[in-house]
Amino acid sequence: MEDIVRDKYVSWIKPETEKVLLDELSRHEYVADGGEYDVAHLFGIFSTFEIKKKSDLCGAQKKFRHFVNINIGMFKASTPEEVERINHSARFCTENITAYSYSGRYRRALENYLKVIKAVVPEKKDSMLDVGSGTIPFLAILLSEEGYNVTAMDQFVLSNECLRNLGVKSLREFFTSRTRVGDYDIVTGRRPCTAIPHIVSRCSSEKKPYMVKLCTCNSPNNKISGWRNLLRDIDPDIQYVGDYIYNFKFGDGKYDIGSTEDKIVNNDETYEEELRADNGCYPFDPEMYDEL
Ligand SMILES: C[S@@+](CC[C@H](N)C(=O)[O-])C[C@H]1O[C@@H](n2cnc3c(N)ncnc32)[C@H](O)[C@@H]1O
Repeated sequence: MEDIVRDKYVSWIKPETEKVLLDELSRHEYVADGGEYDVAHLFGIFSTFEIKKKSDLCGAQKKFRHFVNINIGMFKASTPEEVERINHSARFCTENITAYSYSGRYRRALENYLKVIKAVVPEKKDSMLDVGSGTIPFLAILLSEEGYNVTAMDQFVLSNECLRNLGVKSLREFFTSRTRVGDYDIVTGRRPCTAIPHIVSRCSSEKKPYMVKLCTCNSPNNKISGWRNLLRDIDPDIQYVGDYIYNFKFGDGKYDIGSTEDKIVNNDETYEEELRADNGCYPFDPEMYDEL
């Protein structure tokens, strides 16, 4: 068997994981993305075996990318472009881990948002739906770790078993105009893209409190300001503080004790910085890739 150069910075994946993944690759035609058997599907299987607790996340992306890279001949990729697409998909489905592990800025932004949530939701037992929690849902992982009763909603790349091991309750689906929110005390989301207008609409119809940090990718003018009229037409009682929207009218006074604006501005240290950028996505951060 050909000698494998193992990454000196990470311990190699477990032999049983390697066996399962190689068996998968030999039984199915794995493509980069968009098929039943694509790189994200393979990562889901990898996550069941290799990510049992939060600390396993750091390093997991390197192990997975390395596995894909050295076994690239087993994927359905015959041209250099197809090979690059496979490797790109492996980077793409693990990019949240990279960002959280290596980019101080992303980690700080998540932690700031969590401080706002904690200031607004004093009762950890309140059931919270975190929409667009991330394909690797760091927000819900951090909230669950602190004892919050949170359900993450997104199209995860982690397997259900892995999410359970990380202590995360999950709904593997997208929020749409038909999503019911009646079972939750509050709906939240940090930059949940296409879900934004649906959250506002469903929460106003079902009289549920919500708070969302907006992104711009789906706003009519690609700016935070583009949401204003559109969302106010859906919910005339919507409140804006910078790139946050909320309506706590139906929260029985639980979520607006004290000034919500102060809670946002005082807890989210990246607030000014992100408003100036007026952008849902972070600019390329070279620091993030230094280590890879
Ligand atoms: C910009 S990311 C934000 C992820 C995470 N909340 C964070 O702050 O890092 C947007 C996420 O929303 C998800 N998303 C987009 N539309 C959605 C919808 N309609 N329902 C649920 N999730 C959605 C995407 O899959 C993606 O993971």
